[in-house]
Amino acid sequence: MTDSHKQCAFEEAIVSEVSTSKEAGAGEPVRRRRVSRRTVLQFAVAGVAAGAIGFGSGRLTAPGAELPDWTSADIPSQVGRRMVVTGGNGYPREGRSGLGYHQALALAAAGADVTIASRNRERGEEAVRRIRAAAPDATVRFESLDLTDLASIEEFTSRMTEAGGSLDLLVNNAGVQGRLEREETADGVERVFATNARGTFALSARLLPLLRNGTDPRIVWTASSRVGSIDFDDLQKERDYDYGGAYDDTKLGSILMALECERRSKAGGWGITSVVVHPGVCRTNIVLDGPGVDTPEGWRFQYVPFLWQDPAVGALPALYAATSPHAAGGAYYGPKQMQGLSGLPGFAVLPESARDVALAERYWGTLEDLAGVSFG
Ligand SMILES: NC(=O)c1ccc[n+]([C@@H]2O[C@H](COP(=O)([O-])OP(=O)(O)OC[C@H]3O[C@@H](n4cnc5c(N)ncnc54)[C@H](OP(=O)(O)O)[C@@H]3O)[C@@H](O)[C@H]2O)c1
Repeated sequence: MTDSHKQCAFEEAIVSEVSTSKEAGAGEPVRRRRVSRRTVLQFAVAGVAAGAIGFGSGRLTAPGAELPDWTSADIPSQVGRRMVVTGGNGYPREGRSGLGYHQALALAAAGADVTIASRNRERGEEAVRRIRAAAPDATVRFESLDLTDLASIEEFTSRMTEAGGSLDLLVNNAGVQGRLEREETADGVERVFATNARGTFALSARLLPLLRNGTDPRIVWTASSRVGSIDFDDLQKERDYDYGGAYDDTKLGSILMALECERRSKAGGWGITSVVVHPGVCRTNIVLDGPGVDTPEGWRFQYVPFLWQDPAVGALPALYAATSPHAAGGAYYGPKQMQGLSGLPGFAVLPESARDVALAERYWGTLEDLAGVSFG
């Protein structure tokens, strides 16, 4: 078996695991190995680092099996492919441009026609300017999109439809962390839920007809190494708001949406591959725009910068999911080192709750109602 065959076989195993909800490794003989002092030390350092990065009420998911090393140099030609990446910003401060910027840069450099769809025109256009400077042949543009505003989503998708009849890739990258105090959108929806869950879902539903016309069309959803739970009685945290919980719950939601999308695509013959990724822990603007510096996250952001990986590396799981011919529908990819917090892409382990098909179906139905859209 070649490496790529082994990889495909493993990815098929992962996908069947998703659809059967089978426990990873169940029924396999337990093998005991001698553990060296060095390994113990490495695990201890990784554990302390994971704890230091801080995951409050959320639950960390550890990485699973490994993929062969894969970097942006492995991206195949994307010439002729039309793509949307949500949330891309160029920050004047070195190293703080977000994951969407790095994804758009790599995709445009590989020849794709990329639209960065984001809420802040100035930062989005700065991302475009930087990409053109780094890759002069890049086809990249900015389009205004506010995921908290259903009308803005509708306008954006109308503009995309007028400009072309098909779409080959949607990277649902845009997302926010909660701020210290609960905030609501103009139409009265909690801000984190409105952005990460309702808006992302509505956008994907509205772009579905274009994606169904695409070639090898894919949707990449963005989760987090830290996930929460879904409380249908308080989805918008009216009773019990905390900024970490608001974020973590929507990140479990991202995995549920991705896997449900994959199941529905297969059942409905949409031809769309749905994959979910997380970037590990990256030094972007999300903490400063979210809970801010006067929080444990802010403290770590300022004073323990070595724990945060370069967003260009954090962008790789999404780039793998978006472009690799081996990326599998229903798979979950994330960094493969430091307990899944940094490094090149590997398989991430699905949290147990993300395997709950009934939960995903209910979440999907709730979002259809709240967003006023339906997939299909
Ligand atoms: N950084 C990490 O360690 C980490 C870890 C796990 C998961 N993630 C996920 O990775 C994704 C990218 O985050 P990042 O770290 O790159 O942070 P970021 O630099 O703050 O990027 C988030 C992007 O989303 C955009 N955005 C926010 N609200 C929006 C809205 N209402 N409509 C449209 N766009 C909106 C932001 O726009 P502006 O440019 O206007 O701010 C920004 O471009 C997010 O989904 C995040 O949850 C990040």
